[in-house]
Amino acid sequence: MTEHEVRSLICQVEGAVRAAIDLALPELAGADPVVRRSEHADFQSNAALALAKRARTRPAEVAGAVSEALRAGTGTPVAEITVSGPGFLNLTLTDVALWRQVAARLASPRLGVGSPEQGRRTVVDYSGPNVAKEMHVGHLRTTIIGDCLVRVLGFLGAEVIRQNHLGDWGTQFGMLIQYLDDHPEATWHHDELTEGTSPVSALDSLYRAARAAFDADPAFAERARARVVALQAGDEETVTRWKEIVAESEFAFREIYHRLGVLLEPGDSDGESFYNFLLPDVVDELTTAGIAVESDGALVVFSDEVVGPDGNPVTLMVRKKDGGYGYDTTDLATIRYRVRDLKADRILYVVDSRQALHFRLIFEAARRAGWLTDGIDAAHVAFGAVLGPDGRPFKTRSGDTVKLMELLDGAVDRARAAIADKVHELTDEELTRIAEQAGIGAVKYADLSTSRIKDYVFDVERMVSFNGNTGVYLQYAHTRICSILRKAGDRIVEVDPMLPLHPAERALVLAMDAFGDTVAEVGRVLEPHRLCGHLYELAKAFTDFYEACPVLSAAERVRTNRIALCQLSARTLRQGLSLLGIAAPERM
Ligand code: ARG
Repeated sequence: MTEHEVRSLICQVEGAVRAAIDLALPELAGADPVVRRSEHADFQSNAALALAKRARTRPAEVAGAVSEALRAGTGTPVAEITVSGPGFLNLTLTDVALWRQVAARLASPRLGVGSPEQGRRTVVDYSGPNVAKEMHVGHLRTTIIGDCLVRVLGFLGAEVIRQNHLGDWGTQFGMLIQYLDDHPEATWHHDELTEGTSPVSALDSLYRAARAAFDADPAFAERARARVVALQAGDEETVTRWKEIVAESEFAFREIYHRLGVLLEPGDSDGESFYNFLLPDVVDELTTAGIAVESDGALVVFSDEVVGPDGNPVTLMVRKKDGGYGYDTTDLATIRYRVRDLKADRILYVVDSRQALHFRLIFEAARRAGWLTDGIDAAHVAFGAVLGPDGRPFKTRSGDTVKLMELLDGAVDRARAAIADKVHELTDEELTRIAEQAGIGAVKYADLSTSRIKDYVFDVERMVSFNGNTGVYLQYAHTRICSILRKAGDRIVEVDPMLPLHPAERALVLAMDAFGDTVAEVGRVLEPHRLCGHLYELAKAFTDFYEACPVLSAAERVRTNRIALCQLSARTLRQGLSLLGIAAPERM
């Protein structure tokens, strides 16, 4: 256990039931106590059913023996045990144990959450937009999910290294640079652009124009090809131009990152170009090891594990016929670099699920090359698509990809309307600030709360709703607790563990107590929607509590304990939202 860690009640109950099993049935020692939340009591243990089979007796008998041993145990939080059904143990905890838990969590700056990822060096590859291209809805999920995982793992003690794998290298830049040189009148630097356009949208259009010129004008095509060669050869003037394009693009990405409130910084960018000089060596190593082999004039890796529809093993392209390197080669270099130089224990690629095969092949090759060893966890953190209202990949009415900035503007506008509708006493300035927090939070929450691997429909109206499992609902729940605490005079309170608990108080305490385990689980399975679901249940438990249990008008001792519950609820929600990367305003 790390400092400040408060062991959750369910863990304590598991420990007690496990000890009771060891005592009652020594031949089955160490068995899983199968403890879950229960509708009939605080928890239940379903262990007897599985154990009876192994012990060749009836479940009721096992349940009886275990409950007896459990009753005899000392220092457990369990107050009451009943056997129900074929052999379920219903377990009710002492009120004291629940109040102590509240007090202990309140006393901890991190709410008693442990640090199970302590010291684990974890690389998170996310966002990875392409230079000279507008960030679009396709980059939304990787940026938001990646940011959430960075926050969660960091909170759990991991040593997180953020990696923004910018698409900043390739032959297309030769063409673009030539076009810019041919058209000195073109504007694309951020300081010469008008409001509402960004360097990347300007460069995006210029690139399209360059493509058109390439197809229509053989003389331009000739110059463009020469420019590609110059860029690859490191020609100074060409490289300077390319750096300028990258810097202007990063300027535009930064605006989006800032608006989204993600943690990415310029220093996190190690794009494709960063690996360029490493590629020949990576290729050499794979060739010497016999992993990369000649095929049809190119150098490829044949998979040992995956065959394509034609029955042949699928391949990674290590070096093309023309001697060029591509996306595959660069990713072989990313994994070698992250293992060898960054010394990662865990490497996460937060990239859309259509690239599943690519990463499977990269990991396989890296294992064969001896880069990835058993002690290193490499994972493709895949996610589904964002769909439009018609259930097809999200596009504008004219069929273009949706620009991320416009998408965010739209969500903030809707959030503003929804808030203005519900809350009337806000000044214009407050409304603007809160609408931004709510609109951005709504987009992020909608994304994070759907199971990662599923597609979801981008439905702004639903996202900014005050009802249901939305970011706005959670933010609003948090502001309501803040308002109670303002009236109560927020101060350090001393919890009285001897008071009886109202059922709604009980449910709230049990919900809050599961926060740390939920966060730890998100760190293990990398699924942010579990945290969203937990916070939603917590907010609902708070609402039920507040309806059933008056806080401000309660008698002094009861009131104090209820204020403590409000404080812990507010802090847990705030901490949870912050791990999702969502603001928690105090008023809205
Ligand atoms: N730039 C790529 C894209 O837009 C994503 C890069 C993901 N990271 C990686 N190491 N391949 O699809």
